[in-house]
Amino acid sequence: GHPHIAYRAGDLMVEAVPVSHLARQFGTPLYVYSRAAIEQAAQDYLAAAQGKPVSLRYAVKANSSLAILQLLARLGWGFDIVSGGELARVLAAGGDAGKVVFSGVGKLESEMRAALRAGVQCFNVESESELHRLNRVAGELGRSAPVSLRINPEVDARTHPYISTGLKSSKFGIPQGLARKAYSDAALLPHLRIVGIDCHIGSQITSLEPYLDALDRMLDLIRDIEHHGIKLEHIDLGGGVGIRYANEAPPTPAAWMGALLQRLENAGHGHRQVMFEPGRSVVGNAGLLLTEVLTLKSSLERHFAVTDAAMNDLMRPALYQAWQAIVPATPRDGRHARRYDVVGPVCESGDWLGRERDLDLREGDLLAVLSAGAYGMAMASNYNTRPRAAEVLVDGEQAHLIRERETVEQLLGNEQRLVF
Ligand code: LLP
Repeated sequence: GHPHIAYRAGDLMVEAVPVSHLARQFGTPLYVYSRAAIEQAAQDYLAAAQGKPVSLRYAVKANSSLAILQLLARLGWGFDIVSGGELARVLAAGGDAGKVVFSGVGKLESEMRAALRAGVQCFNVESESELHRLNRVAGELGRSAPVSLRINPEVDARTHPYISTGLKSSKFGIPQGLARKAYSDAALLPHLRIVGIDCHIGSQITSLEPYLDALDRMLDLIRDIEHHGIKLEHIDLGGGVGIRYANEAPPTPAAWMGALLQRLENAGHGHRQVMFEPGRSVVGNAGLLLTEVLTLKSSLERHFAVTDAAMNDLMRPALYQAWQAIVPATPRDGRHARRYDVVGPVCESGDWLGRERDLDLREGDLLAVLSAGAYGMAMASNYNTRPRAAEVLVDGEQAHLIRERETVEQLLGNEQRLVF
């Protein structure tokens, strides 16, 4: 599951660079990505899309580092954004605004304006209220806004509840039953141009069925909407396939996309432009979080390895009880192996990176949390006034520092002291 990240002669390597060298050069905690792994994943999607009417829009939220956006832009990918900040990143990375889709349940008017001025491909609109607001903002700018309506297909993605987005109870999208009315209303708004339909049922989905169910429901809706004289150019099926963290066996991007395209074709929609917004599966297994073991301690019940990385650096374990592999940079012989809870220095009991991991450790050892390329750095915070980690992109034998470690001065820099 981790191409380009493997042991060679007893050292964990990212491409041709031992991670221990990176720790020495750049310090820890450190996010490390493999350029080849990112490009390989992106190429797998491109190969599966080859010759088909498919558009790939990388979900920037998964990892929004400029250097990574640059790699994807150069391969011709467009982007799925959820904020004006992400739009600015895409433009700064040389991304094509004409290949940007703007998702999100609460877009600001200022963000709508920025996106209209940049000339994004479409707005994925999530409510009637947003339709009217966007129509007004576009009118004020003298522009026409391309819109796709995000419909909640009400299928259970069978993933973690926090990353399921297509349930009936979800805040996302327009309920299926109100879709037709939303489309007829949109068609009457003078500054909108209907271009598509869109759904997103969740993330880290490792089976095909929920996607096929959602697609079937979308196809029913499309028939209904087009029957009422509204033409849809594209159908956007949301995020990408899940990845392997432990022993999940998700379909490959090619198999996943192939099955969806086949279903479309069978339903007589083979001609239709299809959009996908993968994030995790592009970068997830291309990155790791490197951390140093600060302290080993034991209570009567447990052994703890306290690392210099914490929940503020990698939030997924604390937030979703997510399991990510934790491996030593330079494995020892195992004679002193114990079962450790790997925890960070933050003052929360939820601050752990992994529980009950069998590891042979000394203080000062380096550990790598694998599968950390997606929703790792992108979700990092400054809790406990901890500067955010640095990021390195490895390319063969080269290591590029793509983001410097934050400094405490930077953290204080935005604040104003009271004057007494
Ligand atoms: N499109 C939309 C509208 C989305 O909401 C998402 C993810 C994606 C695309 C990308 O989905 P992906 O290909 O990455 O599955 N922080 C969580 C994941 C949250 C995903 C939210 N939406 C985690 O760490 O597991």
